[in-house]
Amino acid sequence: MGKMRTQSVRWRAVAVLASALLVGGVAACGNSDTGGGGSKDDGKITMGFSQVGAESGWRTANTTSIKESATAAGIELKFDDAQQKQENQIKAIRNYIQQKVDVIAFSPVVESGWDTVLKEAKDAGIPVILTDRSVDSADKTLYKTFLGSDFVKEGRLAGEWLVEQKKTASGPVNIVELQGNTGAAPANDRKKGFGEAIAANPNLKIIASQPGDFTRAGGKQVMEQFLKANPKIDVLFAHNDDMGLGALEAITAAGKVPGKDITIITVDAVKDGMQALADGKFNFIAECSPLLGPQLMDLAKKVHAGETVPARIETEETTFTQEQAKEALPNRKY
Ligand code: AHR
Repeated sequence: MGKMRTQSVRWRAVAVLASALLVGGVAACGNSDTGGGGSKDDGKITMGFSQVGAESGWRTANTTSIKESATAAGIELKFDDAQQKQENQIKAIRNYIQQKVDVIAFSPVVESGWDTVLKEAKDAGIPVILTDRSVDSADKTLYKTFLGSDFVKEGRLAGEWLVEQKKTASGPVNIVELQGNTGAAPANDRKKGFGEAIAANPNLKIIASQPGDFTRAGGKQVMEQFLKANPKIDVLFAHNDDMGLGALEAITAAGKVPGKDITIITVDAVKDGMQALADGKFNFIAECSPLLGPQLMDLAKKVHAGETVPARIETEETTFTQEQAKEALPNRKY
């Protein structure tokens, strides 16, 4: 009898433990569902964001800015990294349309080829915001606004600085150019702005220009080829800091002193680039700000509410010399 009572007490204890575990398990599942999101009709805005990739320090800072700002603004963010491939971005945008997100935002890896998917978003009644890079679509009703930089101006500021530096040059000044990925708005526009500015001095000549895809590895590899093919290189214009940083390795390995034997001009002004400038390895940087998150979330709320927003919103940017970089570095956020 005593033995039977002990057994039944044991079974009850097991049953209580099992149901406690079950409740705990359900609660845990419930929590992860809430955290996982999905388009719910709870008044919260859901944004689908397609990012170019993770090719540079600029891009990493941009992604952080977008994720942090979405959280701060109470916007549910669905984020996709396209690994620098347009087809991945089109796929991500189509997924966001299927999921019926409230707003789609993206930074187009290249300028062309977006009309069909943008039309699909428009037909589904989902507003699209372009951020960082724009598209060349003739139909401007396919997106609500563009938020980002004036890339032509960045190239022009870089070129104007060089024109000033080389105004007393009596012979040819040989320039090599590391472009961003082929077809990207910042690659096209920075090339244009720089080319227009240096046209002011016929001594300034671009002797080689190749894409380095905005990456350090690309910058290093293409600079190695430039150095092999061209015995006299006076200036490097790199479309971003990362390619310039990669090129530094190639230049040093070739026995040349960056910043002295070869004048180096870049775009972005991320921390590593600013450090190279302060250290005298770079000579000039035109800034391009990646901190677009807060303005993007603000625009998302406005377009979701049906408010009219400006067709184009440009970021305020500056330029840095070596002395200015030394001053700015301690407070640089990215
Ligand atoms: O579109 C902005 C550019 O993309 C940045 O200048 C570059 O670093 C990035 O990869």
